Amino acid sequence: MAHRGISGKAPENTLAAFALACETPGIDMIELDVRLSKDDEVIVLHDRTLQRTSTGNGAARNYLTTEIKEFDAGSWFDPSFAQERIPTLLDVLMMVNKRRWLNIELKSDFFFPEKPELLERQVLETVGDLGYEECVMYSSFNHRMLGNIRRFNPTAVTGVLYSVGRDFGRMPSKLARRVGASVFVCAKREVTRRMLDDARTNGIAFYVYTLNSTSSVRRMIELGVDGILSDIADNIVQFVKR
Ligand code: G3P
Ligand code: MG
Repeated sequence: MAHRGISGKAPENTLAAFALACETPGIDMIELDVRLSKDDEVIVLHDRTLQRTSTGNGAARNYLTTEIKEFDAGSWFDPSFAQERIPTLLDVLMMVNKRRWLNIELKSDFFFPEKPELLERQVLETVGDLGYEECVMYSSFNHRMLGNIRRFNPTAVTGVLYSVGRDFGRMPSKLARRVGASVFVCAKREVTRRMLDDARTNGIAFYVYTLNSTSSVRRMIELGVDGILSDIADNIVQFVKR
């Protein structure tokens, strides 16, 4: 899976990074991070603030989508990407056009808690409008959001992200079942044999992020993980298929 697109070779979470993932044979899924703009549109941005990955400043939630679209989301990575913009989820669905599955990671924003369930509803509506339901999984560190997604769409595929500080000692099947998820996702340093066995025994798929070296990929394949997220999925996929 291409983590934030091919984010090692194009600015993360931009159409350029997602296009590269679509053009690379063997990549099954693209991961992207979503949150809301001031006018409640679903935008594709990892951080709550704009400054790391664009020419904007401050919380994205304080800007209208039209304002967000004015920022350059590529120059920070390389001047050749100066035309890149922070996309909306709709932009991404239209560009990818079902060539790849999407792993839509819902980011929660504790600074703007005034509209519960709004991100979940907006994401589902956008996905539904484009008829993209069959090619999407939803993931989040906020498992309550995933419970809401399943409540609004009982057939949605969801994946719980493991937060070691909060979830330590809890097994994948327990975390997943609480909110009807079928996938468990954790960082590579968090993987244990016991967690893998628990997922395998209980029919929960086990994904791991972010693997950017062949040695880490080899180790995780030997352990038996079901999915790998990488910033350089184009390189990794060649290694995996060989
Ligand atoms: O889905 C795995 C990964 O994307 C979660 O962490 O910070 O890269 O969104 P982060
Ligand atoms: Mg993410």
